[in-house]
Amino acid sequence: MLSKKIEKALNNQIVLEGTSSNYYLAMASWAESEGLNGAAEFLYAHSDEERIHMVKLMRFINDRGGKAIVPALKEPASKFKSLAEVFDIIHEHEIMVTSEINKVVDICLSEKDYTTHNFMQWYVAEQLEEESLAKHYVDKLRLIGGDKGGMYLFDRELSTAKMQQGNQHGK
Ligand code: FEO
Repeated sequence: MLSKKIEKALNNQIVLEGTSSNYYLAMASWAESEGLNGAAEFLYAHSDEERIHMVKLMRFINDRGGKAIVPALKEPASKFKSLAEVFDIIHEHEIMVTSEINKVVDICLSEKDYTTHNFMQWYVAEQLEEESLAKHYVDKLRLIGGDKGGMYLFDRELSTAKMQQGNQHGK
């Protein structure tokens, strides 16, 4: 059985994962409208992943006798200056999500809830991957700068990255 404190922390995390899914969805839609089709593919797929992260938390809470709450949708930003700006936002956002996950892990330890602590390790590992991927793209975009040819190749690389991401997660 989950303590109320853990249930609240996990429900907060649900809000964050749902918000992330929505952010990525807005970015995907922006990229698509800008003709950045590879980036759009990548971002749509990532939005789906974030939704999976959210549902995984919901099912864990309900499974352990708690009550998962579906968060309300807030309209995310829909205009971006460039793909570089998009990936800067993603990188900063994922760093924030990591720190929130670490807080949940801390609460698990203080509450001596080792089952939830164990469950959260999946998120810890996932964040490491996501942060390093976002940083990788931020660095690449910095190198590309205003080079249109470089941007074309980068966009193409992102559509392949989307496929690799899918394979990694067994899709
Ligand atoms: Fe589910 Fe990007 O954190």
